[in-house]
Amino acid sequence: MIGVFDSGLGGLSVWRELVKQLPDEAVLYLADRGYCPYGKRSAEQLQRRCEAITRYLIAQGAEIIVIACNTATSAAAQHLRGRFNLPIVGMEPAVKPAALLSRRGKIGVLATEVTLSGDKFRELAERYRNQAEVLVQPAPRLVELVEHGDLDSAHARAVVTSQLEPLLAAGVDQIVLGCTHFPFLLPLMQELAGPNVALVDPAGAVCRQTARLLDQQRTSSAASANPAGRYRFVSTDDAPGMHDFIARVLQRDVAVESLTLE
Ligand code: SIN
Repeated sequence: MIGVFDSGLGGLSVWRELVKQLPDEAVLYLADRGYCPYGKRSAEQLQRRCEAITRYLIAQGAEIIVIACNTATSAAAQHLRGRFNLPIVGMEPAVKPAALLSRRGKIGVLATEVTLSGDKFRELAERYRNQAEVLVQPAPRLVELVEHGDLDSAHARAVVTSQLEPLLAAGVDQIVLGCTHFPFLLPLMQELAGPNVALVDPAGAVCRQTARLLDQQRTSSAASANPAGRYRFVSTDDAPGMHDFIARVLQRDVAVESLTLE
């Protein structure tokens, strides 16, 4: 079983891709809505919280953990890898493909402050410095929009416009979605950014990496794939809100369990 978590609903953009690429796998998705947004937490807080979540997912049968959250990856992926003996897949802003594909040699990255100020992101931007100038835009308000299920209102349009504007004015032709919440705003962003700007979502690459690691894990532990796909959803707050979001945006009627994490 694949254990996936995020601060809230954003990681469902990764879940959506996982079930497309690995339709026979059971997936348990934990939305830590009671602790959202992660972008306002310190690295130490996130490490403790992510450790508790990982422990919970393993106790439920997870063979691999997907941190479907850039902020949590930046703050806690290494910490978790040092503490748990199972594969841990994290998000990485897709700077590489964006830099290589940029015609103008200018790319933008939308993410939280925690992600943008992390060592991992700094190293990534530095590595591709010769291919493209990397402009960053902290965008916590986009996380709020998605958590409220507000993907296309006049308010959402105004907020998305204000977050895109500095990057568009600087002339970027690729915008990296450095937070798993943002792909749910992709149709609106694409409309506002226009056809000459590409929006880059790393979910596909992260899911391919998950499939590879799961395969290796099973070869080495001789465990077998779960033949009957089964999806569970857990929220640490507002389970009905999550149910409604999944029904509306992913067109699935699922049960969402409530969880209190110690
Ligand atoms: C947040 O909870 O602040 C956003 C998390 C993310 O980076 O995906």
